[in-house]
Amino acid sequence: MALVKKLKCVLCGKEFDPESDTFTCTDCGPDGTLDVLYDYGEIKGKFTPKALFQRKEKSISRYIDLLPISDPSFFPNLKVGCSPLYESSFWAKKLGVRQVLIKDDGRNPTASFKDRASFIGVAKAKEAGATSISCASTGNAASSLAGCAAVGGLDCYIFVPEKAPINKVTQLLIYGAKVFLVKETYEDAFRLASKAIETYGWYNRNSAINPYLVEGKKTCALELAEELSFDLPDKVFVSVGDGCIISGFYKGFYDLKQIGLIDEIPELIGVQAEGAAPIYKAFIEGKNFITKEKTNTLADSIAVGEPRNWAKALRAVRNSGGDMVTVTDEEILEAMRLLARTSGVFGEPAGVAGFAGLLKYAQSHKLKGDESIAVIVTGNGLKDSESARKAAGRPFVVEPTLEAVSRILGSMN
Ligand SMILES: Cc1ncc(COP(=O)(O)O)c(C=O)c1O
Ligand SMILES: [Zn+2]
Repeated sequence: MALVKKLKCVLCGKEFDPESDTFTCTDCGPDGTLDVLYDYGEIKGKFTPKALFQRKEKSISRYIDLLPISDPSFFPNLKVGCSPLYESSFWAKKLGVRQVLIKDDGRNPTASFKDRASFIGVAKAKEAGATSISCASTGNAASSLAGCAAVGGLDCYIFVPEKAPINKVTQLLIYGAKVFLVKETYEDAFRLASKAIETYGWYNRNSAINPYLVEGKKTCALELAEELSFDLPDKVFVSVGDGCIISGFYKGFYDLKQIGLIDEIPELIGVQAEGAAPIYKAFIEGKNFITKEKTNTLADSIAVGEPRNWAKALRAVRNSGGDMVTVTDEEILEAMRLLARTSGVFGEPAGVAGFAGLLKYAQSHKLKGDESIAVIVTGNGLKDSESARKAAGRPFVVEPTLEAVSRILGSMN
């Protein structure tokens, strides 16, 4: 376990005592999200490649020495993290770069990257003595929370937009969460959840509010580093909605730099859907604030018009020397097909948006031949089978005869 030294506002730098129960800056309000900072000098001696090598846990609990949890018994008994990392020589050759790595985080227990955060959220709730936990979500944070809460023995209250994909809602229900489908948008679900959490005293797992959740998300950066013997890729492509995942990558690499395991943070390339791109616009326009927008994208998980963690996300991109790019829904569907058909990784629309961003980036000749690239696939394709069907095409319906099959095969030539 790592002792949290302080919480620090991303906007004004004001510091807070970790014992104080403060989730966002008292001066800056909800936009002033907090960083969880440790005594890095102390961690340096414990979090070493050799110590990691000796760890037996095949989940993110192996990073306990860099996580804000006092006792591993609070962790839910689920194997979160340690997701597969594939090297694709096909895409390296096609894009003219040294290496392309694809990390399939859809292989987590509830099939998305968000399990990393919910694992920590449930542990923090238990540490705080809470018996119930809640969040608003576009769907994946919720399903991961429902799963982790079920294992951790917590009551779980979920607020998702009414139009959340049915498979994600089904996940929530099967894990036994109390599910509120909120009419209108994710923003409405978020506001309602915030009021309900305050009224009923549930533990708040909203990633952009609760600073500890990004500590879960950072484990993907730690994992990537460990798998690559701390020789990191030059660029990491990741999809962006609220901005918590990309902030998690930045924080993971930042922590590794503080303890001297890496010299440089890879360039973080944030990918938004063209129809939901407020963080991209702020980045391109060099602004330090977000203009809310109405969203229009089939990538439901990143359909966020009023992102909560924009400040950390912009810092992640800017401080890493990274960049941002948008992709259309058509490019996302094409990326779903291409990724599945070349690497076997089946991602949901937001899950493959990072890969769609890489393809777009390559078209603009922004990649260099000697670069190593990592792409994070953040959610499994079966989460949203309706969108997957749009990308996949149609099967042949035939009479049960060989002639019928032959006719179709013949028509293909
Ligand atoms: C599959 C998937 N990808 C990407 C994101 C974007 O993450 P963030 O909202 O932290 O930017 C989400 C968030 O729900 C997601 O579920
Ligand atoms: Zn502040």
